[in-house]
Amino acid sequence: MRVHIVYAHPSDGSFTHALLDAFQRGLTEAGHQSTVSDLYRMGFQPSLTPAEYLRESSHGVDWPVPDDVAAEQAELDAAQVWTFVYPVWWTDCPAILKGWFDRVWTIGQAYHPTTLNQADQALVLCAAGHTADHLRATGCYQAMETTMLTDRIAERAKAKRFVLFDGSEALADDAWRRRRAEHLDAAHRLGRELAM
Ligand SMILES: Cc1cc2nc3c(=O)[nH]c(=O)nc-3n(C[C@H](O)[C@H](O)[C@H](O)COP(=O)(O)O)c2cc1C
Repeated sequence: MRVHIVYAHPSDGSFTHALLDAFQRGLTEAGHQSTVSDLYRMGFQPSLTPAEYLRESSHGVDWPVPDDVAAEQAELDAAQVWTFVYPVWWTDCPAILKGWFDRVWTIGQAYHPTTLNQADQALVLCAAGHTADHLRATGCYQAMETTMLTDRIAERAKAKRFVLFDGSEALADDAWRRRRAEHLDAAHRLGRELAM
C-alpha cells in the first residue's frame, strides 16, 4: 500500500519527529511504501496569493493551480492512505499545515466537485502537551478532532481516525518518559498494522 505523510514540525529533535520515525519504521517493516511532504523542509508557502484567492472565490474550477499545489495533489492521488503528523499548537495544527489545507484543498480538486481520488484511509497523528483527559474536559479534543475529520478530511477518505499522543508538557519527567515510550510503540504499531 502507498502511504503519503504530510508532516509539519520545524525540529528533527522533537517528539513529533520521533512519532514520524516510529510510524515510518512500522510501515517499512510491513512492506508499505511511504512518501513524505516535510512542509518546513520544503519551505512550503502557506499563504494564498491574490491569484489563488481569485480562483477560489470565482469558482474557477478550470483555471490551473500552482505547481507546488499540483505536486501535493498528485502525491495524494497516488496514495491509498493519507497521514498527517503534527504537534498541537493553540488547539490546531501549525500554521504551515493550516496553509497547506488552504492552498491544496482547491475548488475542482478537493471540493465543488471533488476530483481527487478518495483515499481508503486518513490517519491524523497529533502530539499534545496537555493530557487527553484535560483536552476532553475543555472540549479542545473534540474541536480538533471535528475540524480535522469532519471538515478537512470529510468524505475525501473512506475511513478516518484521529490519534492523540498526549502529555508531553503536563506529565512529570518519569511519567512522561514512560508515556513517551508507550506513544512511540503505538505509532510504530499503527504503521506496522495499518489495515484497510
Ligand atoms: C506554539 C505552541 C503552541 C502549543 N499549543 C498547545 C495547545 O494548544 N495544546 C496542547 O496540548 N499543547 C500545546 N503545545 C505543546 C505541544 O503540542 C507539545 O509540546 C507536543 O507534544 C509537541 O512536542 P514537540 O514539539 O517536542 O514535538 C504547544 C506548543 C507550542 C510550541
